[in-house]
Amino acid sequence: MSAFANRLIAWQKVHGRHDLPWQNTRDPYAIYVSEIMLQQSQVATVIGYYQKFMQRFPNLTSLAQASQDEVLQYWSGLGYYSRARNLHKTAQRIAADYAGVFPEDFLVMQSLPGIGRSTAAAIASFAFGQAQTILDGNVKRVLARHFLVEGWTGSPKIEQTLWRLAESLLPKQGMVAYTQGLMDLGATVCTRNKPRCNDCPMQLSCAAYKTQAVHQLPTPKPKKPMPQKTTTMLVLRHGEQVMLEKRPPTGIWGGLWSFPETDAMGGLEALVQSRFGLSAQTQTPLATLSHAFSHYKLAIQVQPMHIDQRLTHVAEPQYVWLSPEEANAAAIPTPVRKILQQLMAEAQTKKSA
Ligand code: ADE
Repeated sequence: MSAFANRLIAWQKVHGRHDLPWQNTRDPYAIYVSEIMLQQSQVATVIGYYQKFMQRFPNLTSLAQASQDEVLQYWSGLGYYSRARNLHKTAQRIAADYAGVFPEDFLVMQSLPGIGRSTAAAIASFAFGQAQTILDGNVKRVLARHFLVEGWTGSPKIEQTLWRLAESLLPKQGMVAYTQGLMDLGATVCTRNKPRCNDCPMQLSCAAYKTQAVHQLPTPKPKKPMPQKTTTMLVLRHGEQVMLEKRPPTGIWGGLWSFPETDAMGGLEALVQSRFGLSAQTQTPLATLSHAFSHYKLAIQVQPMHIDQRLTHVAEPQYVWLSPEEANAAAIPTPVRKILQQLMAEAQTKKSA
């Protein structure tokens, strides 16, 4: 076994994390759910979502049998909603094609929606003890520093180098502690900012430490400015209620409930008349919200409009009228939640005035 793996396993046992809610189990489903949540969200954020999700969907069958709407409801606020749609699809596929038993085969895992090579390796090692290596952003940083790998770690060439390296380090035994150790070292010691090299079990063998290149590695991604987009959300209000529409099944916030949107700058009353058959009166706009996606920033103008008569020519169920409290419990994206919270605060102020 590599000296790297030996030292990492010994370090993990003493200094690593042992009490996260998805540890101390070999249930592949429980591990799978955690790995999907942890793909693009921080441990501290994931813990609460994970506990609620597992309470409602304790096993693969319960998830496979749920509606997509309910699965998205439990994901609401966590972002990157294709993860939730894929999780649901994969549960249904395993129920239908694998008799509800999570596949142990590393390649079969990767054929399922939302499970890439690194996620499959995490499940394979944690649930089944297989010698497969993870390679997420944290691990890329650890390896790029320790072995002085220069170049952007997202480029195919550097990625291939890192996969080979990672595979060459694998131990024959102790895969759970080893995989967790890679994650723990990257998350708690070999951090992007202020790495704690004096607490690192790899200090003596780390090439970046030796050459004082720790802060230069990993080489940052070539920078492109983030595109800025704008949209207007129409908050149609009838008494206490607001109208939400179900977004198309794919794309940004796919399958979630949101306010109708438009790019139009003016003529909003005519637009609401032609799109929904509703007579609307424009009210004072709320403050503009800013929301960051991974690949662009969105400025959201928020336009409340008063509706006298709720008759619409558009059919439910793609549209629903809900009180802000009811809407807040639905599968909604974060900016919609922020708007609802403003409406609820405003109603509270009115009541107490
Ligand atoms: N990030 C991805 N998987 C993780 C895990 N199992 N524990 C902590 N952080 C993680």
